[in-house]
Amino acid sequence: MAFRHYNFFSLVFLATTTILLAGHSHGSAVELDPNGLCQNADNKQFCREIVYNLTDPHDALVSSIHKLVYASKNAKKLALKQGSSEEIDVCIENFEESVDNLKSGLKGLEDHDLPTLNINLSAALTNYVTCDDAFSEFGKTNPLAKTDALLEEMASNCLYLLTLIH
Ligand SMILES: *[C@@H]1O[C@H](CO)[C@@H](O)[C@H](O)[C@H]1NC(C)=O
Ligand SMILES: *[C@@H]1O[C@H](CO)[C@@H](O)[C@H](O)[C@H]1NC(C)=O
Repeated sequence: MAFRHYNFFSLVFLATTTILLAGHSHGSAVELDPNGLCQNADNKQFCREIVYNLTDPHDALVSSIHKLVYASKNAKKLALKQGSSEEIDVCIENFEESVDNLKSGLKGLEDHDLPTLNINLSAALTNYVTCDDAFSEFGKTNPLAKTDALLEEMASNCLYLLTLIH
């Protein structure tokens, strides 16, 4: 599956993402991804911003999933502020499901059940795509398109980080 790549900083101003950098904006410069975990990522810069200063792939994945849970909850809040429509309802339902999938995935990671984690992360990703599809099927514009694209990018980055864990 190919995703359009977004520069992380261009998305930082979205409500869903402000938290990602909330703790990062003050203090001295931090070396991002000091262990080069992101060197094979599709979107290296995006990956580096997510990994931040973490050096262990396991820690980086846990942190990335937590960020995605947070972003999914915020996406739901944003969706609830849109005028109600069948399509928005699909998005809300799918964002909720993604949160469940991600929580289940974190449990899988705790149990070192990587196949389950993979299934749960893929399911979360599919849910974000489903939100887009709900609109595009009827030729409508998704008001959450940018947020959704960010969530998809974050989920595919989690799937990438998972490949670093054995
Ligand atoms: C990573 O960043 C956090 C928050 O900015 C800081 O508290 C922590 O000491 C840093 N860790 C390393 C290994 O630099
Ligand atoms: C996560 O994946 C496992 C394995 O397929 C599945 O049993 C579980 O229901 C999934 N979690 C959610 C919330 O869908």
